[in-house]
Amino acid sequence: MADSILALAADPPQDPIERRALYEAAKKLMFSVESNHDVQHRIDYGGFPLYIANIAIDLGVFKALAKAAGKPWSITDLAQHLECEELLLSRVLRGLVAYGLACSHPDGTYSSNATTVLFAQPGRESGVLHNVLTVLPSMQCLPDYIRDHEYKCPTSGHDTAFQPAFNTSEDLFTYLGSHPRDLSAAIGQMAAQRADQASWIQSDAVFPTEVFELSEKDIADARALMVDVGGGSGHQSIALRMAHPEISGPIILQDLPHTIGLVDKERMGELGIQCMAHDFNTPQPVRGAKVYYLRNILHDWPDDVSLNILKQLRAAVADDSILVVDEIVVTEDKIRWQQVNYDFIMMSVCGALERTEKQWADLMAAAGFQLQEVRMYDGDKGDSLVIGTPA
Ligand SMILES: C[S@@+](CC[C@H](N)C(=O)[O-])C[C@H]1O[C@@H](n2cnc3c(N)ncnc32)[C@H](O)[C@@H]1O
Repeated sequence: MADSILALAADPPQDPIERRALYEAAKKLMFSVESNHDVQHRIDYGGFPLYIANIAIDLGVFKALAKAAGKPWSITDLAQHLECEELLLSRVLRGLVAYGLACSHPDGTYSSNATTVLFAQPGRESGVLHNVLTVLPSMQCLPDYIRDHEYKCPTSGHDTAFQPAFNTSEDLFTYLGSHPRDLSAAIGQMAAQRADQASWIQSDAVFPTEVFELSEKDIADARALMVDVGGGSGHQSIALRMAHPEISGPIILQDLPHTIGLVDKERMGELGIQCMAHDFNTPQPVRGAKVYYLRNILHDWPDDVSLNILKQLRAAVADDSILVVDEIVVTEDKIRWQQVNYDFIMMSVCGALERTEKQWADLMAAAGFQLQEVRMYDGDKGDSLVIGTPA
């Protein structure tokens, strides 16, 4: 039986749906056959691959292996190439192979696999760094935080496991403003986070064409097509422009000054995207835009702050404006580990949470919006467009 599973592993099907079903089945199989000792390693040492990957990134291992894709390297040659200690390299390489991040061969050589190539990309590097620098230290403090708070969920971005972890009273985003390395890792991670995931912008089935339609009068009035609220480096605005050149109208990218400061304004200008420093807790300066788009914003904040963010938008919308919230919708009928991971990141770092459809509807209603529709576009993670209109 194991042989047929190994044969499948060597030559997996290419169809994404079949692959996903196999992945879920293999996970169930793993859980059902693992020994107590295996469980101990899976749970107790679950964070180790991240740190091993971090060391490999710093040594340049992923880039070197990926550059000569498939080429087998001896430890001695690779250590010489990377100018690092052979013993350390051999231990790191064994770690990478153990977690599926590289391949080893019977003659003692090592080579890349598809995951090595992925980890050689800047976005994945940022993801590793962001989690090592920011997320894991906060998770480390979460059990104590929860115990000290009488086993209640945090309800403020200023009082989470992040503050004891970083010995600060600032919330995450204020803190990032004065820590450039952490900020650039966080921004890189956000941009790359969904690189391989389904995108609503590219999906004919999900893209809400009618939402992004401007009338002739709108165009004559130079009405803003979309405000990308807290849009980070603007990758969603860029993706919209690139995928839908037929849709005209100004796009405004807003974020905090230190994030807007990192954006390539010239490129944005060429794409008709205006960059604007704006704090979304304060009155929204762009009034009457067709779409107010928030991706991965409200999940960073507990209900009171999220409500204020939405109320600032409610005060700015026109009757026919549309609120598009691009977030996970937590599925209550099926527990998904990706949703669980993000929910605990939000709890530990931001004092916030991932929300169910009902929680989204309640939040929107409290701010004066009515939830009209949920369009799920990533069945694994539950990423969805939660579309609302002024009530
Ligand atoms: C999780 S990121 C999401 C970025 C982007 N929307 C995306 O999906 O990649 C949250 C963003 O909110 C921005 N942000 C945090 N506090 C803000 C505030 N008070 N006003 C405006 N933007 C803020 C951060 O700088 C960051 O770019």
